[in-house]
Amino acid sequence: MSEFARFLKHHLPAINQALDTLVPPATEAPERLHEAMRYSLFAGGKRIRPALTLLTGKELGVEDGPLLSGGAALEMIHTYSLIHDDLPALDNDDLRRGRPTLHRRFDEAMAILAGDSLLTLGLTVLAAEPPQVAAEKRLRAVEMVGRAIGSRGMIGGQIADLEAERQWPDDAAAVLATIHRHKTGDLLASSLRLAGIYAGVSEGEDVLLDELGHHIGLMFQIADDILDVEGTSGDLGKTAGKDAVARKLTFPGLFGVEESKARLLQARDRALGLAGRLTGASGGLFPSLIHYLSTRDR
Ligand code: IPE
Ligand code: IPE
Ligand code: MG
Ligand code: MG
Ligand code: MG
Repeated sequence: MSEFARFLKHHLPAINQALDTLVPPATEAPERLHEAMRYSLFAGGKRIRPALTLLTGKELGVEDGPLLSGGAALEMIHTYSLIHDDLPALDNDDLRRGRPTLHRRFDEAMAILAGDSLLTLGLTVLAAEPPQVAAEKRLRAVEMVGRAIGSRGMIGGQIADLEAERQWPDDAAAVLATIHRHKTGDLLASSLRLAGIYAGVSEGEDVLLDELGHHIGLMFQIADDILDVEGTSGDLGKTAGKDAVARKLTFPGLFGVEESKARLLQARDRALGLAGRLTGASGGLFPSLIHYLSTRDR
């Protein structure tokens, strides 16, 4: 098992515990809404975003405690983005995290509202927790994440993804880079930057964390596109082969699988270089994380 795989395994119980504590129980009214939020949250996501926050914090000398609520907030926001991504009006998917999608298990209204609630709760948690982190840092965290997931960030990427699917643009390569930067890179980069805010890093270090996060994000989404072609629904826990059917603008769709793999390795190498600049030649745990994500099979 790689160093990062061990790190992830070690921290998973605490991440899940933080989520369990922060999300209302299914016994609290409105019960079905809380049940639905938990249905998607505890379906077996990989928890990469909270792990990135914890790992970055470790490299920057922040204890795990304060990072857990922030990481959990990002996982709530990520889960909301998946619930809405799967809706019939977006990607129209039936399977997510190995289970029927939320709108299939409950209904569309519940999927919209459970997503809304996870987004709102995530931002609330960033503002309120952890109390031992100065209020000014929590304010910066809410602003940073808010920008990363808004119309100039993740949602901007989602709409560009949907528009490109309806008609591939002439400058497809440039649009594809923008889609991946925003729909996936912005939230992944904010996972690193959040730890930077708690650690009180300089503006220069924040820019470096953002750049590193975006290279990891690009690598992550190229891998997602390749897995859609090469993986199986059983292994992925989501429907394989759906991008081509929907005529999505993806790396394999535009460049073919072999070229996509080459570009994934380029993004990996740039990420490794940036990690070296952040934490010195050894790069700490980042190299292991980068290798893990560049070779992931789900
Ligand atoms: C899937 O994210 C959506 C993308 C941005 C590629 P993950 O692959 O992290 O999904 P989970 O959280 O493990 O389900
Ligand atoms: C999802 O991208 C990105 C967000 C949810 C913001 P995809 O549509 O490629 O993710 P999957 O393949 O459904 O997990
Ligand atoms: Mg999508
Ligand atoms: Mg999708
Ligand atoms: Mg995908």
